Amino acid sequence: MTSLVTTVTETLRYRGAIGQWSWVLHRVSGLGVVLFFVLHVIDTSWAVFYPEKYVEAIASYQSPLFTIGEFFLVAAVVYHAINGLRIIFFDYRPHLWRYQQRAAIYVLIITVVILIPVFILMFGHVLNFYNSNPQILGLGEVIAAQLPFLGGMAAALIVAILFSVIYGLIAGDTSTKSVGERNSGSPIERFWWSFMRISGLLIVPLVFGHLTIMHVLQGVFDITAAGSTVVGTGGVINETGTAVEFIANRWNLLIAGVAIWRFYDFALLALVAAHGFNGLRYVLTDYTMSSPVLRRAMVYLCVIAATVLLTLGLGALIGTIDSGAIEMAQEAAANLHP
Ligand code: HEM
Ligand code: HEM
Repeated sequence: MTSLVTTVTETLRYRGAIGQWSWVLHRVSGLGVVLFFVLHVIDTSWAVFYPEKYVEAIASYQSPLFTIGEFFLVAAVVYHAINGLRIIFFDYRPHLWRYQQRAAIYVLIITVVILIPVFILMFGHVLNFYNSNPQILGLGEVIAAQLPFLGGMAAALIVAILFSVIYGLIAGDTSTKSVGERNSGSPIERFWWSFMRISGLLIVPLVFGHLTIMHVLQGVFDITAAGSTVVGTGGVINETGTAVEFIANRWNLLIAGVAIWRFYDFALLALVAAHGFNGLRYVLTDYTMSSPVLRRAMVYLCVIAATVLLTLGLGALIGTIDSGAIEMAQEAAANLHP
């Protein structure tokens, strides 16, 4: 905790050489996307396991709070991706290090250049939706719907601390490693160092493709538009206008016998879960260096969270969404907005 406070105060006091600020922005954007990813994978799995709950989740997303959040999310993904590419480039071209400050400014410029047209297109969808006089959930309901997630995260933290205490009692607490040791240290850490770079490169086309499909081509509000064509299916229609049918149409599409969107989403799921939670481990262990118990608990927390999300996400991807699930979603939507 003390080290977290020191980081924040020192960052502000240092008043930002661009390198320092890009480090902070990279960290904050990564954390923001991890947080969204937790909600998103759990919610998406409900399309298979609890169709009526998925209807509520999508209704929450189609509210002003999340609409604003989606602009921040897209900005965070774009900045983190472009800055990640900068980090990777200079890691493999250290003799060009003297240009890294200038490159950090180019990262900001490229981010803005990408975001301007994307935001204009997204804003078009937002205007269409809010001008159509939609039924929107109240802020209280939207916030209440997120509370179980907070409960789940708190439970995972408690379990992680308990495991760490038990491990400490059995095996004894050894001294903690410094960040420097983390980067240059064991073969496992060298593996993760390379993995963060390779996975980052692979995630760029996958996540940009996913966001283009959802935000620009389809538009997040048209996921629930009855009679609209479903993006990436060659013109299949979402007859019921439920988000459950939208996913069913995409996941059930076969090209040469292969459910391509299930494979696409699996690649995204596996890479982002491993990259995001290993990144979260870097951040959380940086701030718990002084306590072996807490530091180990942070590692367990990341392992628990990644395992839960991979299990739920994969379970949904290999599950079936049948006509019964779509009917349940239709009923739930009718009850939500009678
Ligand atoms: C607000 C922006 C987003 C929207 C509206 C959105 C929408 C969706 C939808 C509708 C699905 C269902 C499957 C499909 O139709 O392909 C899905 C699945 C998925 N999305 Fe997103 N997505 C967003 C952002 C993201 C981001 C930023 C990531 C990665 C960091 C991500 C990762 C995934 C993954 C891994 C799956 C598969 C989940 C599973 O296995 O159950 N999404 N998304
Ligand atoms: C879009 C493509 C992406 C690229 C090119 C990328 C690249 C990188 C790189 C190079 C690092 C530094 C790793 C290190 O310190 O050894 C990193 C860290 C991180 N990434 Fe990503 N990443 C991407 C997507 C994501 C996504 C989707 C998430 C969230 C689910 C994420 C979360 C994180 C976190 C939390 C860190 C740790 C930040 C820190 O230590 O300050 N990244 N990323």
